[in-house]
Amino acid sequence: MLSYRHGFHAGNFADVLKHSLLALAISALKRKDKPFVYIDTHAGAGKYAFKSEFSQKTGEYQQGIQKVWDEAQPPAELAAYLAAIRAENTGRRLLRYPGSPQLVRRLIRNQDRLQLSELHTSDFQALHELFVADKQVSVSKEDGLEKLAKKLPPIQKRGLVFIDPSYEIKSEYSRVIETLEQAYRRFATGIFVLWYPVIDRDVTEAMLKRMQLSGIPKQLRIEHCVAPDGAWSGMTGSGMLFINPPWLLLQQAEMLLPWLNRVLTDGQGTWTIEWWVPEKVG
Ligand SMILES: C[S@@+](CC[C@H](N)C(=O)[O-])C[C@H]1O[C@@H](n2cnc3c(N)ncnc32)[C@H](O)[C@@H]1O
Repeated sequence: MLSYRHGFHAGNFADVLKHSLLALAISALKRKDKPFVYIDTHAGAGKYAFKSEFSQKTGEYQQGIQKVWDEAQPPAELAAYLAAIRAENTGRRLLRYPGSPQLVRRLIRNQDRLQLSELHTSDFQALHELFVADKQVSVSKEDGLEKLAKKLPPIQKRGLVFIDPSYEIKSEYSRVIETLEQAYRRFATGIFVLWYPVIDRDVTEAMLKRMQLSGIPKQLRIEHCVAPDGAWSGMTGSGMLFINPPWLLLQQAEMLLPWLNRVLTDGQGTWTIEWWVPEKVG
């Protein structure tokens, strides 16, 4: 049974990294007119309210998006991300936050499509209700990892696959690698994005090492840690591993990460931006 609910964590420091990079990648796909598909294997509830009992209980967003929101001059790299958040909120007060489905929905064009998977009954219901009348979005209550290969290659031949598990079950660390390897074989030109937490550094590195040895070229690793490894028992950092990252994403991350680190941690955190596997392997 799934117990993770993203509502507790929506808008936290990890979501800021996750969603700001996702917004940059989606914006890059829009540089060409040709349609694309966005596949979200772990979609969550779609959007979140900070006055909900979930957010109120943890207040995690106050150490995340609230700090960014309060900044007078955010960098240009945050423009699309912040525009999507602004569209959720009528006034200046930050009350609502778009999860990955609603964020991407706000950024796509008429020709683009979203395919969303979510397993949790309540979050699936919320997601279904959010997009029920939307012809550009399909929502399925299914195991997003199990069903991914069947969706590839997409008819559009262009797309981004976002894999954002909760890592509630330890076996997910291996499962995502096996799924990515299989998915890449079916759609080698696609953009794949894997989110990962830094909770136990050894576990994270073991997973990333397997990706490095997978034979899949062009992997870009972007990570932000708000505290040293093991400083507390929960998540001290998070990262995104991009396969076939869009052109300029590395340069955009180099502008963005120092700013995010200053705003979110007063400069106490650390970040990594590196070609985990270069364009040509070997
Ligand atoms: C980290 S949250 C997703 C957050 C969302 N991507 C966002 O950025 O707003 C992970 C979600 O995956 C769901 N989930 C867990 N295992 C799943 C699976 N195998 N297939 C589909 N959804 C799954 C959980 O119920 C949870 O809502």
